[in-house]
Amino acid sequence: MPNWVAGPEVFGHSFDLEYFGAQRVIVATRMASHDTTTTTHAPVRTEPLPLEFPGVHHMDDQEIEAVIRVLRSRSPFRYYGVNLQKETEQFEAEFARAVGVKHALAVGSGSSALSVAMAALGVGPGQEVIVPAYLWVSVAAAVVNQGAIPIVADIDDTFCLDPRDVERKITPRTTGIVLVHMSGAPGDAMAIAQIARRHKLFLLEDCAQCNGGSINGRKAGTFGDMGIFSFQMNKNMTSGEGGAVVTNDDHVYQRAFACHDLGYVRDENGRLMYQNAEMNLWGKGCRLDELRAAILRVQLGKLPMITAAMRRSKYRIRQALEKYSGVQLRRILDSAGDTGCFLITTYKDAATAREINRRLREDGIITWPQGVSNILMTQWGLHLYYNIASLVKRTSVDGRGFPWSLAENCDSRPSYEKGACPTADSLFGRSVLLPIPSCLTEGDEQDIITAFDRALAA
Ligand SMILES: Cc1ncc(COP(=O)(O)O)c(C=O)c1O
Repeated sequence: MPNWVAGPEVFGHSFDLEYFGAQRVIVATRMASHDTTTTTHAPVRTEPLPLEFPGVHHMDDQEIEAVIRVLRSRSPFRYYGVNLQKETEQFEAEFARAVGVKHALAVGSGSSALSVAMAALGVGPGQEVIVPAYLWVSVAAAVVNQGAIPIVADIDDTFCLDPRDVERKITPRTTGIVLVHMSGAPGDAMAIAQIARRHKLFLLEDCAQCNGGSINGRKAGTFGDMGIFSFQMNKNMTSGEGGAVVTNDDHVYQRAFACHDLGYVRDENGRLMYQNAEMNLWGKGCRLDELRAAILRVQLGKLPMITAAMRRSKYRIRQALEKYSGVQLRRILDSAGDTGCFLITTYKDAATAREINRRLREDGIITWPQGVSNILMTQWGLHLYYNIASLVKRTSVDGRGFPWSLAENCDSRPSYEKGACPTADSLFGRSVLLPIPSCLTEGDEQDIITAFDRALAA
């Protein structure tokens, strides 16, 4: 266990509270006076770094006016109203254009986008879907809720799926692969797409953490059969909550459309069409409303500026670290297509990572209580496969074994305990994660560099 303390000194200088995904965990950096290895110099900074929340820092009158426009129209529902603005429809067209796909479907969250995508792709009992060891709990949840079995594949030094392990994990029951572009930068979508094609599997790209990312000019979300995005507050653009599904496939789009709504498609006037027998499906009820769509239209326009700001800060820091042989930097396939929202540094062993993290925190590389900054990757909660208790325990959705004990799934015997993905385990144990806010000043960047210089020199 890390040597954290959450004692009466909790509001002292070296304390901070952090949120790890849905869990609120108290992390207290040890007070300097308790720690014999502590350095004696004044901290590099005493004010916490800005909070992450990339899109939020750039919200201004434009988002306010967009919301007011919808409220004035008294038409907050997307399909009909007294003075319908069609904000959601316009956002979908603009988002599809920005990503470079034929169809975008706005939904209520990234988690519901995953769930809609799984339903549209026909995932169900008797099927296995390969997911990465570094992910977010919603990816596994979307598979399990459809009655299928997630199979965890290892990652490589991109911190995304390792194509070699994906090949190893394919069985006759495998139906698809979810490539999650983690921590701001795309994984090897070309290699994974090739594998998917060769084995006739679907490829779903989860771009929740990589909105605006690309590889050699081709946007994340366009390499597979479908892509999903999240517009939750901690994403590159946001409306607080929100998500999207994208695809070039008309049939898959129609299925996704029906599944995100009431199980049926609609005509151009928003009226449900019951006659299309192929589209008599089951809906998940996760339509997006006009208020959030109006905000997202503004945020979409700001996305290139937001990601450029984070990328600039991140690469200034990365460049400063390149001279240190003791730091391994995450392999980035195309730095121009990195959205820049996280810096991951890896060290020779877990003890070194802990020490660097501790020294950086002691030097003030922390953020405000409601955010996350400079953590050991092992503290990254439900992003690590073995931390997802419901996965490790194979929790049943219905309390009677679904989907794990279904006859159709009896040949799937996945392992979710720590040890199942050795490269991921090793990288998590030796790495430090630093979110890069979209509003860092040159002074903030310099403070981070100075703190790294001191920690690494020590
Ligand atoms: C990789 C990934 N996928 C999916 C999601 C789900 O998005 P939402 O929070 O909008 O449901 C998240 C959210 O953090 C995520 O990081």
